[in-house]
Amino acid sequence: MHLLSERVTADNITLMLDDYSICQLDRADFMGKSLLAHGIKLDGPLYWFCRLKTKRQNEGRGTFLMKRLTEILDERGWWVLNGVNPYGALNLEQLIKFYGKYGFIHFDGDTGMYRQPRPIGAVSPRATDVARN
Ligand SMILES: CC(C)(COP(=O)(O)OP(=O)(O)OC[C@H]1O[C@@H](n2cnc3c(N)ncnc32)[C@H](O)[C@@H]1OP(=O)(O)O)[C@@H](O)C(=O)NCCC(=O)NCCS
Repeated sequence: MHLLSERVTADNITLMLDDYSICQLDRADFMGKSLLAHGIKLDGPLYWFCRLKTKRQNEGRGTFLMKRLTEILDERGWWVLNGVNPYGALNLEQLIKFYGKYGFIHFDGDTGMYRQPRPIGAVSPRATDVARN
C-alpha cells in the first residue's frame, strides 16, 4: 500500500492510495460558526471532512490515510470539522472511536466531531476519553 497522490492546497486536501482509497477535505471556514456556538474558538483555517473511503476494509488503509492526514494538519495548523456518516463496516460508535484515536473530539449531536491541530511533537491527548464525555 502506498500513496498514489497527495494534493494539499489552501482549498483542498486529497490523499489517494494506489487502490484509489481516498481521503478528501475542503476548506470551510464558514462552518466555524458551529464550533463557536460551542465555545470553541479557531486559531487557524477550518476544513470539512468530505470523504474517507477505503476500497478494502480492515487492512490498515484507513489508518494509513489518517496518519498521513493528521501529519499534514499538524504541520500546517489546520482544524477539521467532521460529520460522521457510516456507510461501511464501521458503525457510528466505532467510527467515533476510530476518529478519536487521531485527535477528533465528539462535540455536537450524534455525529459532530472536530480536530484541533497539535503542536508538532506533542503527546496525543486522550481524545477518545474526551469523546466519551
Ligand atoms: C471507515 C473506513 C475508512 C476505515 O478504513 P479501514 O481501511 O477499514 O481501516 P483500518 O483497516 O485501518 O482499521 C481501522 C480500525 O477499524 C477497525 N475495523 C476495520 N474494519 C472493521 C470491521 N469490519 N469490524 C470491526 N472493526 C473494524 C480496525 O480493527 C481498526 O481498529 P484499531 O484502530 O483499533 O486497530 C472504512 O471502513 C470505510 O471506507 N468505510 C466506508 C465509508 C465510511 O463509512 N467512511 C466514514 C465516513 S465518516
